[in-house]
Amino acid sequence: MVFENFLHGADYNYEQWLDRSDILEKDFFYMKEVKANVMSIGIFSWAMLETDEGQYNFKWLDNLMDRLQANGQKAILATPSGSKPAWMSYKYPEVCRVDEKGIREKHGGRHNHCRTSIVYREKCREMNTLLAKRYAKHPALFMYHVSNEYNGVPCFCDNCVAEFRSWLEHKYKTLDNLNKAWWTTFWSHRFTDWNQIFPNDGSIQGMILDWRRFNSELTINFFNNEIEPLRKYTPNIPITTNFQFPDVWLDYHMFAKKVDVVSWDSYPDWHLYDSEIEEGIKTAFMHDLYRSAKKQPFMLMECTPSSLNWKPQARQKKEGMTELASVQAIAHGSNSIQYFQWRQSRGGEEKFHSAVVSHIGTDNTRIFKDITKVGCLLEKLSVNKKLLSTVDKSDVAIVYDFQNGWAIDGAGLPRNNRKNYQAECIEHYKAFYKKGIQCDIISAELENLSDYKILILPMLYMFPDGTEQKLKAFVEKGGTVVATYLTGTVDSTDLCFLDGTPGNLTDMFGIKVEQNGVIADNEKAEFQYNGKKYNSVDYIDIIQNAGAQVLSKFESPDFLDMPVITKNKAGNGYAYYLTSRNNSDFLKDFYAELCKENNIKSFVNFELPDGVSVQKRGDVKFFMNFGNKEVSLNYEGKEINLKSLGYYIEGID
Ligand code: GAL
Repeated sequence: MVFENFLHGADYNYEQWLDRSDILEKDFFYMKEVKANVMSIGIFSWAMLETDEGQYNFKWLDNLMDRLQANGQKAILATPSGSKPAWMSYKYPEVCRVDEKGIREKHGGRHNHCRTSIVYREKCREMNTLLAKRYAKHPALFMYHVSNEYNGVPCFCDNCVAEFRSWLEHKYKTLDNLNKAWWTTFWSHRFTDWNQIFPNDGSIQGMILDWRRFNSELTINFFNNEIEPLRKYTPNIPITTNFQFPDVWLDYHMFAKKVDVVSWDSYPDWHLYDSEIEEGIKTAFMHDLYRSAKKQPFMLMECTPSSLNWKPQARQKKEGMTELASVQAIAHGSNSIQYFQWRQSRGGEEKFHSAVVSHIGTDNTRIFKDITKVGCLLEKLSVNKKLLSTVDKSDVAIVYDFQNGWAIDGAGLPRNNRKNYQAECIEHYKAFYKKGIQCDIISAELENLSDYKILILPMLYMFPDGTEQKLKAFVEKGGTVVATYLTGTVDSTDLCFLDGTPGNLTDMFGIKVEQNGVIADNEKAEFQYNGKKYNSVDYIDIIQNAGAQVLSKFESPDFLDMPVITKNKAGNGYAYYLTSRNNSDFLKDFYAELCKENNIKSFVNFELPDGVSVQKRGDVKFFMNFGNKEVSLNYEGKEINLKSLGYYIEGID
């Protein structure tokens, strides 16, 4: 999609204030002050749009659309399916989810509808048809925000379970195939009828993995049902749905293919640690994940203006944090900064969640002033149209795969505390981040590998069908692959590969893993690499060498002489294997060497001080300081001073 400006806005719950025209009046005035150009509206408004079955009231939404247009803001119009009205749950109980024990949830909460409910699907289509037809020609209609934070949480009603069984039948064709794929002879789990399958048995890992896949696909299917009328009546209006921090039951890589632009909601734990450095890296990784999903600019659909109300503690943002976090999102490819929420709600669950306009009701607050600064910056950046349409290509890709994460979650491994799959991917990412080198974060589908020089597979435990061929082709053509412990241990149904792992790639790596082992908490596993000492923890693969060059061996008695790093030439490229879990110090040095060999350059030609990040979009470079200390950089002869939580943008006037 084409962006004409950087977007600045918030979730606006106008409908909560209909009896306070004085407050609404102020809202539109304040929106101009913060230089807002969009508002996300109608997100949880079903009960206000359809007060009883067939009793519609669009008047307030008409007014809101008109007022936004007159005030210079566009509407990111939500479909209201994130929360169903009480009349619907009572009249049609099937719209409510059923839990594992077969109990149907009572009305309440949100994000908890049954996705196979024919009634709910139909009601969503009706509502979305009315919205699309009504506002098709409205000049304020800019984009759709479909539902809110779909989460993939399962419903165990008869319909959902029946659909799951059909999904399985379609996938496996015969029960015999299914029994083999799930290895059900173990513990007498064999199924002799499709109707015996009920997805609550965590001891059948293949089943739980398929249940998660099914729920993810079912959610995407539900989304497709929602967008049909939107596409039909308003084909030119782009569609998004807000993704979350990726710990839900959704394969966002798959989902991203269905939206016109990826958007996500970012809620880091700022100010809870000694510095913002680590949280900054984690957030950068997430931004890069969502940028890489379509290799296009994404949107930051929600972030908090200051504190929030749903974590054990969420400190109000310190001076500079709002701006720094906003610059970070833009630097990593976002074309918007939007907040939850515009005005702090007076009652309900989120009354202590911060907002652009707080309960005090004025523009004379620290938060409001911070947000205004962001608005001014975005206005300035919007002059650079090239920046808006650019995201840089990466030479390096890290595979972070949702389904692989689910498979690791479900597996009983030799070590089950600190599996830390996501954290491990971030450790590898950090090595590049700290050097000022951009990475893509991609799925195990391994699409468009020819874009990359280095491909990293941290803990890629599960190989989907076709992985081996894709990796071989990549290496044959000269690519460098780095795999770690646990890589290629199981196939797509969680069956272990026989004859040594990484599955079907032992030739390419020149090694065979004979056991997936553990470095116990009371053990040391030290080694040297290029004359420097390092220490591994948690996991170790015990390997047999089948022709690879061993670059380093453990020196500690418990693991003496076992290989740590192997390298194998395959075709025109190289396949490295890291047998153990290593700290960021090692990864930084190791990848610095690989980057040198592959002629991959940093965005800058000097070592970045601790806490400083540099990102690039086209001709523009962003320098950000997440550390506690002021630092000064010498960039191409220019002295750049970055105070703690400060930033500098090079390449704009
Ligand atoms: C998001 C959600 C919003 C609001 C926000 C509070 O996850 O989409 O509706 O609840 O959290 O931080």
